[in-house]
This record gives sequence, structure tokens and C-alpha cells, in this order.
Amino acid sequence: MSALPPPLAAIVPQIAAVADYEPFARERMSEAAWAYFSGGAGDELTLRENLAAFARLRLRNRVLADFSQAHTRCRLFGDDFDFPILLAPVARQGWLHPDAERASALAASAMRAGMVLSCQADVRLEDIARQASAPLWMQLYLQPGREDALALAQRAEAAGYRALVLTVDAAVNGPRNREQRAGPPERPLPPPVNLAGGGMPVASAVAPGQSLLETPQVRTAPTWRDVEWLRAQVRLPLLLKGIAGAEDARRALDAGVDGLIVSNHGGRVLDSQIATIDALPEVAAVAAGRVPLLLDGGIRRGTDVFKALALGADAVLVGRPCAYALAAAGAPGVAHVLHLLRVELEMAMVSCGCPTLADIDRACIA
Ligand code: FNR
Ligand code: LAC
Repeated sequence: MSALPPPLAAIVPQIAAVADYEPFARERMSEAAWAYFSGGAGDELTLRENLAAFARLRLRNRVLADFSQAHTRCRLFGDDFDFPILLAPVARQGWLHPDAERASALAASAMRAGMVLSCQADVRLEDIARQASAPLWMQLYLQPGREDALALAQRAEAAGYRALVLTVDAAVNGPRNREQRAGPPERPLPPPVNLAGGGMPVASAVAPGQSLLETPQVRTAPTWRDVEWLRAQVRLPLLLKGIAGAEDARRALDAGVDGLIVSNHGGRVLDSQIATIDALPEVAAVAAGRVPLLLDGGIRRGTDVFKALALGADAVLVGRPCAYALAAAGAPGVAHVLHLLRVELEMAMVSCGCPTLADIDRACIA
């Protein structure tokens, strides 16, 4: 679907920070691919706000702490991670690189980072599991069919995945205006290989005169009962992705879920939703200390990771930066992004007097 990128060595002198991969990726992507990966819903207010909200937060430095035992290790669902940064589920990576999610998984394993595989991946989940040496989590939706979701969950469990990530914030997709304006892909993408029924339906599929609310997609959209049902069917830890408020966090815990991901789907669903870092404190007030709490959306710097941890997250996930690095430089690029974020996080820890992740708390925010 896409040609091999140049070796990392060809561009690495020009990459100082994660954001530097973006223009290299854009150069190699079609208009339609660029719109899909970089775009958000509507006017992209939330897409921008996710980054802007991180930029508004200020850190308090602290000097002369003892770093003789310092580290960034953390434990999630029984697995040890060297640092608290995972690859977010990002669909259709075959559009970015010929090795698709295989390259991302190779990078994650090389860096001993966790990876969440999208149910809309372009590589079979069993093939990814065979090659990976770092923990894998499997992302799913309850649409279009609950039984399809369960079948996928069972395949993931059998293949050795360590957790399930149920994405609950995309019952509809939001108006993907940037994608609409860019037009369809030059060549239609093959259907995602792990799904029987193709991808998620999109909101723009409503014909004039029809109501979105009367479509089967919305009428049969999953409810809390379905979350309880799935929780009862599977053994793996179940995280909900797309929780952005205290009320939903409480309901999720009542439904018996094992972890929460504060996310607004990278600004791709509800434009005008608040930034994830602004939503985090109220979710943390309900969930932190009870179940693992993760956040994604707008992480572009190690200081962003640090800010998320300070406000209650145990770990973060990164979406677009890894996608851009995959397009620009393949697996080494993705590994490099993880490395850059980790080292920047460690710089912030040193400057804020936090030898371990447990030392990063609200007092670090000025
Ligand atoms: C996503 N995201 C996503 N989430 C999910 O649960 N399943 C999926 O298949 C996808 N696919 C997907 C494709 C693309 C192109 C993007 C950009 C995002 C959302 C993703 O997991 C994550 O929530 C955001 O990407 C986080 O924001 P950043 O890091 O991209 O700012
Ligand atoms: C998206 C779907 C795949 O964000 O989650 O495009």
C-alpha cells in the first residue's frame, strides 16, 4: 500500500524532537492518507486543544533531590514496563508502511514498550503476537456486533495478549470534514484483516432526509449493559478507552472494568470536547488508586507525559507521533519517538526532583 521509507540515518540529523517527523511523513503521504491520519472531527478544535492544554500547564522545578535509585519502571496488569509510554491503537497502518503494524510492534518490542493493536490493523493479531516480545493489548469496539467483539477478544486472549481495550467513545465518528475535503484514497484500502464485517460505519453515511438517530448504528449502539456482559465473558483485564468525566468513570468502575483510558479519540469524534489533560483530574479523583488510569491525546513531549502523570495518570499512550515516524522512517523511527519521549520525561523528572514515577504528583504543577 505504501513504499518503503528511507533509512532512519537519512533523516535523523534533522530530527531533534518528535514533532520533526511530521513534515517527513507528510511528504510521503497522499492527500487522503494525510487527512485521515492527521485530521480530526469538524473544525479540529479538540485536536488543537489537546496540545494547547498541555502547553498551558507550567511545571515547578525542584533541585538537589537524590537520584541514586532513580528509574521510570511501572507495573500494569502484572507486567513490568521500563517506562510509562505505550503505542496507542491507530488503525490502518498499512497505509503508512508496507510492514504496517508489524513495524510498530517491532519498535515497541525493541524499546520494551507496550503496544495496543487496533482492531482495524492491517496485520493479523496472531502474527503480531508471534513476533512481539513486549506486552500487547488488543483494542476492540462493540460495534457492529457484540459476538464479533467477543470472538476478537477470545482470539486475542488465545494469542497471548495481556489486556483488552474497549473503545467506547466512537459510537459515531463525528464529521470528518478534512477527510471529506481530501476525497477518497487513490486506491481503495483492503478491508481490515482481523474483522469479519469490515470497519466502523461513519456518520456521513446518512442519506439526505434520514436521521442519524434512526440508523441501526445508533439504535443498536452499545450500552453499559454490554460492557458488563463483555466483562463477564472474558478473563483478560478490560480497560475502557474514551472516558472523559467523573460520572462515566464511576459507571465504568461499577461495571467492573479493570482500567480506564482518558481519551477523546485524538479529537476525531466530538469536536469541542475538552482536552484530555483538562479532563484527567476529575477522572483521577474517582479512579486513581483504584484501577490503572491512562491518558492519550496530544502527547508530543516528555514534559507532556510528566504533566499527565502529575495529574493522576499511571501511563500514557501516543498516537499520531508514532504514525508519522512509521511513515517517515519505519520501525526505527517509531522506536526513536519512544526513546525521545522517554528521555525528555527523564529530563523533566531530574529537573523536578522526582526520582521515580511515584514522586510525580500534583505539587509538580505550578
Ligand atoms: C486513532 N485512534 C484509534 N483509537 C481506537 O481505539 N481504535 C482505532 O482503531 C483508532 N484508530 C485511529 C486512527 C488514527 C489515524 C488516529 C490518529 C487515531 C485514536 C488513538 O488511539 C488515540 O486515542 C489518539 O490518536 C491519541 O491522540 P494523539 O496521540 O494522536 O494526539
Ligand atoms: C478512527 C477509528 C478507526 O479514529 O477509530 O479513524
